[in-house]
Amino acid sequence: MKTIRLALLGFGNAGQAFARLLTEKQEELISTLDTRVLVSAIATNRKGTLLAEGQEGLNLSNLLHDLKKTGRFSRDEGKTALQVAEDAEYDILVELTPLDIFSGEPAISHIKAGLNRGKHVITANKGPVAWAYRELKELAADKGVDFLCETTVMDGTPVFNLVRETLPFCRVTEVSGILNTTTNFILEEMEAGRSFEEALEEGRRRGFVEADPSADLDGWDAAAKVAALMNVLMDAGITPLQIDRKGIGGVTAEIIKEAGDRGKSIKLLCRGWLEDGIPHGKVGPEEVDRKSLMAVIDGTSSLVSIQTDLMGKLSVLEHNPEIEQTAFGIFADMTTIVKRQEK
Ligand SMILES: NC(=O)c1ccc[n+]([C@@H]2O[C@H](COP(=O)([O-])OP(=O)(O)OC[C@H]3O[C@@H](n4cnc5c(N)ncnc54)[C@H](OP(=O)(O)O)[C@@H]3O)[C@@H](O)[C@H]2O)c1
Repeated sequence: MKTIRLALLGFGNAGQAFARLLTEKQEELISTLDTRVLVSAIATNRKGTLLAEGQEGLNLSNLLHDLKKTGRFSRDEGKTALQVAEDAEYDILVELTPLDIFSGEPAISHIKAGLNRGKHVITANKGPVAWAYRELKELAADKGVDFLCETTVMDGTPVFNLVRETLPFCRVTEVSGILNTTTNFILEEMEAGRSFEEALEEGRRRGFVEADPSADLDGWDAAAKVAALMNVLMDAGITPLQIDRKGIGGVTAEIIKEAGDRGKSIKLLCRGWLEDGIPHGKVGPEEVDRKSLMAVIDGTSSLVSIQTDLMGKLSVLEHNPEIEQTAFGIFADMTTIVKRQEK
């Protein structure tokens, strides 16, 4: 039986949900992949940093229990995430620190540290994929390891996996979709007659609107997702700065009503395409026909459509994800790496 050791950078909502899934699937990983998966290190900002003593890995059930009771780990090795990436014993680095949408750091540095040591890296953080994917992918290839990021767009919904595993020789020529929950929810609520402020407040109450929602409202989150999609699926080598971006700030109740009178809804649409080989990306509010697929993407659901040369256009819809779908994306990338080791 093989043993795979993971180092987790970040142990917040996503890290803890992944740890729960790992605990739940431990026996099945052994029986189906002949692999024992251990967590050998966890770095956080304030909860503490842990390194496993001996070969058995950290006891995730105990850790989750401690956190629930005290909000902290029971001990702290006092190391930073970068130090863990650089020095700890592990096979796969799992990068789950918070997103910096304007730079991708410090996650980019964490990932480089892991790749430079010849370690596989999984990230759920779209910053590095939006800002530095080509560089990181090339570094991974140079070191003969994997750099996987399924969770960065639409959580665990297979988008990158779908193209990589099931669309052989297909070239992706265009991506489009509805990829930002906050704006999708607000526009939908405004269409139902609520004010912008009421819709924002309702989103906060339901827990998916950030304390500072400006990155969502101004289209930065969507632009980062378009850049990530284009970088992974089209080798675009672009950043969010190159996406023609407009938020929903200018969308008024009158504009929504006028569109409605003509049988249209307003959605924050995301698009990326190649023109003479040059990548172009756009995010902004647009009218869509109420009978179109885009118009029926409601609330916290998301949609991505992928235009290919050999398989035409495909669409993948994620219905109202929870944190378990985030955990699944990380888990799916992990199993991909484990299976590749068998070959
Ligand atoms: N939540 C989702 O549904 C979801 C979905 C897709 C992608 N993602 C991405 O996944 C990543 C994690 O999300 P999350 O929801 O788990 O965030 P979160 O709940 O805010 O947790 C972030 C974790 O990172 C730790 N951290 C912060 N700064 C750090 C640093 N400099 N070094 C080491 N650790 C640091 C925090 O430490 P403390 O615990 O001590 O504060 C915390 O454990 C983000 O990039 C996010 O965009 C999340």
